[in-house]
Amino acid sequence: MDAILKVTEDMEKVYSAGGNEMFKGKVFANLFYEPSTRTRLSFDAAMKHLGASVITADGLQFSSLYKGETIEDTITVICQYSDAIVMRHPEQGSADTAAAVATVPFINAGDGPGQHPTQAILDMYTIFKERGTLDGIHITMVGDLKYGRTVHSLSFLLGLYKDVSFTLVSPPELKMPEKVTSFFDEKGIAYTEVESIEEGLDSDVIYMTRVQKERFEDEAEYERLKLKYILKADHVRDRDITVMHPLPRVGEIDTDVDALPNAAYFRQVRNGVVVRMALLAMLLGKA
Ligand code: CP
Repeated sequence: MDAILKVTEDMEKVYSAGGNEMFKGKVFANLFYEPSTRTRLSFDAAMKHLGASVITADGLQFSSLYKGETIEDTITVICQYSDAIVMRHPEQGSADTAAAVATVPFINAGDGPGQHPTQAILDMYTIFKERGTLDGIHITMVGDLKYGRTVHSLSFLLGLYKDVSFTLVSPPELKMPEKVTSFFDEKGIAYTEVESIEEGLDSDVIYMTRVQKERFEDEAEYERLKLKYILKADHVRDRDITVMHPLPRVGEIDTDVDALPNAAYFRQVRNGVVVRMALLAMLLGKA
């Protein structure tokens, strides 16, 4: 993680200078079988800023997966066309299945309610830039901690650093899964589980999440829970707390927060490009 942060700082300079030709002649594949704006377009931008050509597949219904092709066969085929593959897929575990057969570098861009590692890495970079450190960070995670894959991945990464602690704010139905809390227990990481946003405001970072509509079988249950937590400017205006969100937001951060200096979520988005440039450079042996 420290090495990625360092390469990302180098990539900030490349990005500000308008990119380079590191991957001239290379072809990268962006496979997005589930909706995305930020991850898809920031990978696309990162690849193009480093001189690569990009081939894409958008939407499960437009691919041969829809006809019943296995993920293994799809990935084996795309390895013939490309020098690296980025894939988002609605099934948890799909990234492991794909990576097991890939003969070129493979990046998980989100596997259903599983993990979203590149989002977590850009979140770590954002915390580092905004707070100046990763050690000792107290983070409050709010909202859909059950299905929100970004908080799962971020917990595993931030948990690698010293003296970090977590306040987990969710309704009982959307609590952090046991796979994450057992990791905290094993590592001796301090965490508390609470139900009100006010109990999470004495931290360094507040990380809001969207309730993941697409993971609910019962739409009425989603409607009941979707706006349980809304962060307002009054919550954070006079506090030394950095406000983050992986986005998209659907009402859980009031737009009044946007103008506050501690609202970091649009800076967080920009960090996604440079982090993904760094990851590609490292995976292909260029950094
Ligand atoms: N943060 C994130 O993964 O956004 P997208 O779903 O738009 O890629």
